[in-house]
Amino acid sequence: MLPVAAVIPAAGVGLRLGGVGGTSVPKALRLLGGRSLLVHSVAALSPFVDEIVVAAPAEHVGLVGDQVASCAVPVEVVAGGATRQDSVLRALEVVGSSVEFVLVHDAARPLSPAEVTERVVGALHSGAPAVVPALPVADSLRQVDAGGHSKHVDRSTLRAVQTPQGFRKDILVEAHRRAADSDATDDATLVERTGVPVTLVVGDHLAFKITNPVDLLLAEILLSGRVDPQR
Ligand code: CTP
Ligand code: MG
Repeated sequence: MLPVAAVIPAAGVGLRLGGVGGTSVPKALRLLGGRSLLVHSVAALSPFVDEIVVAAPAEHVGLVGDQVASCAVPVEVVAGGATRQDSVLRALEVVGSSVEFVLVHDAARPLSPAEVTERVVGALHSGAPAVVPALPVADSLRQVDAGGHSKHVDRSTLRAVQTPQGFRKDILVEAHRRAADSDATDDATLVERTGVPVTLVVGDHLAFKITNPVDLLLAEILLSGRVDPQR
């Protein structure tokens, strides 16, 4: 099997979760069932990869290193940057030279099921250079202009994008090199700008991103087994 690495950006503050004013704990270090979101995400990816690089908040690199020390695969922790893109790039820079594929996974998606990662890795091994899990959008959508006017958007053509996203390493590194300071919120966006086609696989509602306080509450309920998400 060709070597696979996971890059886990975990250096965000978590403003929408109440990270400033509410708590000084960065989002990836918030607890869910007694373990940090980051530890959940590392555990979710570790069965599929040969090495993991975490981009942690600069002031917590040592603490994060301790949290992931007992992982089944080698985990390196680097200081993240000011943007998600910067954090991913810093982690990519230390990925082993023999690695063929890189999975980029938000620390903020702690409950992403193994089946999603399996689909992403499977598509990479089948020859897709860039693979993204995605789901149809549930809500009706409206596009808003600067003046506050809005119009209907056909949601049937749209997909919500999740992680882990998978890439051939050379393609992902080149996309980040070319990107400089962009406002991209995921890696497939950067790769697509270099002309590489992006393959979609089916995502999963459990791969939702913890963004707002209600998301953390939902994750706690799901993890405690009080709700079976399959029913
Ligand atoms: N991230 C990162 N470095 C940054 C910003 C974000 O590594 N400078 C990571 C986050 O830790 C998270 C993932 O990118 O795992 C997705 O970002 P998001 O959900 O936006 O997290 P935050 O930026 O922390 O949250 P917010 O935007 O609400 O502040
Ligand atoms: Mg953010």
